[in-house]
Amino acid sequence: MKLLISALRVTALVVMAFLLIEYLLPVEDGLVMAKYPALLGILAVVLLAALAIEIAIAALGNVLFKSLNEDAQKKYLQEELLKKEKLWNWFKKLRSNLTKTKPIEEEGEIIMDHDYDGIRELDNKLPPWWLYGFYATIIFAFGYMAYYHIFDGATQAEEYQSEVAQARVDIEEYKKTAPDLIDASTVALLTDEADLSAGSKIYSVNCIACHRADAGGGIGPNLTDDHWIFDGDIAGVYTVISEGGRPGKGMISWKQDLKPSEIAQVASYILSLHGSNPPDPKEAEGEFFVVDPE
Ligand code: HEC
Repeated sequence: MKLLISALRVTALVVMAFLLIEYLLPVEDGLVMAKYPALLGILAVVLLAALAIEIAIAALGNVLFKSLNEDAQKKYLQEELLKKEKLWNWFKKLRSNLTKTKPIEEEGEIIMDHDYDGIRELDNKLPPWWLYGFYATIIFAFGYMAYYHIFDGATQAEEYQSEVAQARVDIEEYKKTAPDLIDASTVALLTDEADLSAGSKIYSVNCIACHRADAGGGIGPNLTDDHWIFDGDIAGVYTVISEGGRPGKGMISWKQDLKPSEIAQVASYILSLHGSNPPDPKEAEGEFFVVDPE
C-alpha cells in the first residue's frame, strides 16, 4: 500500500515536470516532446530512477524495522500513529478555523428563539473563508473603479477594438511570409516588376508551347485580346490556370506544378500583355470581356 502511494507520488511529480516543460518551452506547433524526443527519454529515466530509489528506501525501512527488538518496534509504531493523529488534528483545526461552525453538541447556545412550524434558526457565525472573500471583493471594487473610471482604463469595447486591430496587423505579417495562402477569391493583380518578371519566366518554361512566346495563341487561345473563353479578370485567369480549361481541350490544371503565388504571378504577367497586339494572332475565341474597373 505504502509502496503504491509512493509510486503514484513519484509518477505525479514526473507528469507535473512533463506539463511544466510543455508549458514553459513553447514550440511553434505540437508538443516539445515530439520535437525533442530525447527529453521524453530523460524523463522516463528519471521516473525509473525515482521509483527504484523509493523501492530501495522502503526496503531499507523494512529491514531496519525488523532489526529492532520488540519494545523498540512497539515504540516506533506508536510514534507513527501519533504523527498521523497530529496531522489529522491539524486538518480538523484548519477546517474549524475556516468555517467557525459550532459542534453539534453546542448548538443550543446559538439557537434563536423563533420557531415556524418547527423550523428554527441557528445564529451561526459567517464562515471566515466566505467573509474575507467578501471583504476582498470590496477592496477589489475600489481598485477596479479607480482603474476604469478615474484613470481611464480601456473599456471592453476599446479592448476589443485594439485586439481586432492587432489581429489585422498579425494577419498582414503572416501573409507576408506565407504568400501561398492565395486562392481565386483572394488573388490580386500583381504589378511589381519582380512579380511580373517571375511570371514571365514561369510562362516561358510552361506555357509558350501552346500559347506562343508572345501569347498570340497556338494550340491555346490568344491571351492578349479582349476575348476570353473564361473570365478575363485576375480571378478568372487564376482559376483557369489553377483548375484547367474544359476537359479534352488541352489546358491542364497547373496547381500540382505551380504554387498559388506562382499562379498569381503568371496570371498577372498574362494580364500585363493585354492589348499588346502580337503579330499574326490566333482568331478571337470566347466572349468579349470587360474587366470591372474596381
Ligand atoms: C498543352 C497546351 C497548353 C499549355 C501547355 C498551356 N495551355 Fe493554356 N490553354 C490551352 C487551351 C487549349 C486552352 C483553351 C481551354 C478551353 O477551351 O477550355 C487554354 C486556355 C488558357 C487560358 C484561358 C483563356 C481564355 O480565353 O479564357 C489561360 C489564362 C491559359 N490557358 C493560361 C495558360 C498558362 C499560364 C499556361 C502555363 C502555365 C498554359 N496556359 C499552358 C492550352 C495550353
